[in-house]
Amino acid sequence: MKIVGLTYDLKTDYQFREGDPPDANAEFDHPSTIEMIASAITAEGFQVKRIGNVISLLEQIDNLGVDIVFNISEGRTGRNRESQVPMLLEMANIPFVGADALTLGITLDKIIAKKIFIAEGIPTPKYFEVKDPNSPIILDHMEFPMIVKPRFEGSSKGLTDNSRVENEAELKRQIEYIIGNYKQPALIEEFISGNEFTVAIIGNDPPEVLPVVQIQIDGEIELDKKFYTFGHISSDKLQYLCPAKIDEDLKKRISEIALAAYQAVECRDFGRVDIRIDKEGNPFVLEINPLPCLSTEDIFPLVAREIGLTYTQIIGRILNSALKRYNLIN
Ligand SMILES: Nc1ncnc2c1ncn2[C@@H]1O[C@H](COP(=O)(O)OP(=O)(O)OP(=O)(O)O)[C@@H](O)[C@H]1O
Ligand SMILES: [Mg+2]
Repeated sequence: MKIVGLTYDLKTDYQFREGDPPDANAEFDHPSTIEMIASAITAEGFQVKRIGNVISLLEQIDNLGVDIVFNISEGRTGRNRESQVPMLLEMANIPFVGADALTLGITLDKIIAKKIFIAEGIPTPKYFEVKDPNSPIILDHMEFPMIVKPRFEGSSKGLTDNSRVENEAELKRQIEYIIGNYKQPALIEEFISGNEFTVAIIGNDPPEVLPVVQIQIDGEIELDKKFYTFGHISSDKLQYLCPAKIDEDLKKRISEIALAAYQAVECRDFGRVDIRIDKEGNPFVLEINPLPCLSTEDIFPLVAREIGLTYTQIIGRILNSALKRYNLIN
């Protein structure tokens, strides 16, 4: 029986430090998610070995005793944090599920990812970056409203109801908020007023695009000015609808763009692409997550059901894509 190691970071293990924003541990997983993944892997006929975070991995790396690692670890700090576990595993020549260190680094940094999308002709909102809150802001090619986000965070960290800005005074305030609280540059994008979708993709050669999921906020799918914040994620105001309430043409276009983004940054085994459509029907890729949340409250169980699979089977598919990639199964 093959042994599958599990690397992860638990919310309950995070120790808040002075100066941390309230959403500092937002990316980490609930123990229940780890239990769900572990039981799915067991049910698929593997033995599970819980490894824990990058430090536990480092301590055990010479005697890990696993055939492959199912990695959902977020890592410690900085824009390369998600790359830390994959880098160690690559060094030790241990196979692992999901994207490698390079892909995780270039996608956690939303600006580097946008540069790749632009080079590949994948539409993404216009943007600029501010590193120093005191530097003059030049708005040449940008139009209000805009949204101000941290350059390398996920799980809607740094996003509040104030993140969407209408004028220069609000813009300046939000830039100061991001740089001051998240200790990193601010990414400013044109705000795409319209509807929002997210697309899960699994596998390789070729990857399989799963049914498009539509975002509903406060019971509305016509989002217009609405967007989701850290507050929405931690309440029940955010809902995922599958199938999406759009015509087949738009579904196809969204799926194609999602796949192009997955391939542009060389995702492997699984990923999730966030897309927004403006009033004229133009799609824009907001970001790609090569390490999307696999919790049962997130989209994977929902899209699994839509194509007649259980959560367990979806986890099995992701794991099998990786095993195949390493020629560990046929
Ligand atoms: N340019 C934009 N126009 C409109 N809304 C946006 C834009 N950028 C981000 N948003 C809103 O903010 C949300 C979070 O942004 P984004 O996906 O970039 O950040 P994240 O923290 O990585 O997200 P996740 O919670 O998916 O990990 C989006 O789902 C969307 O609702
Ligand atoms: Mg997102």
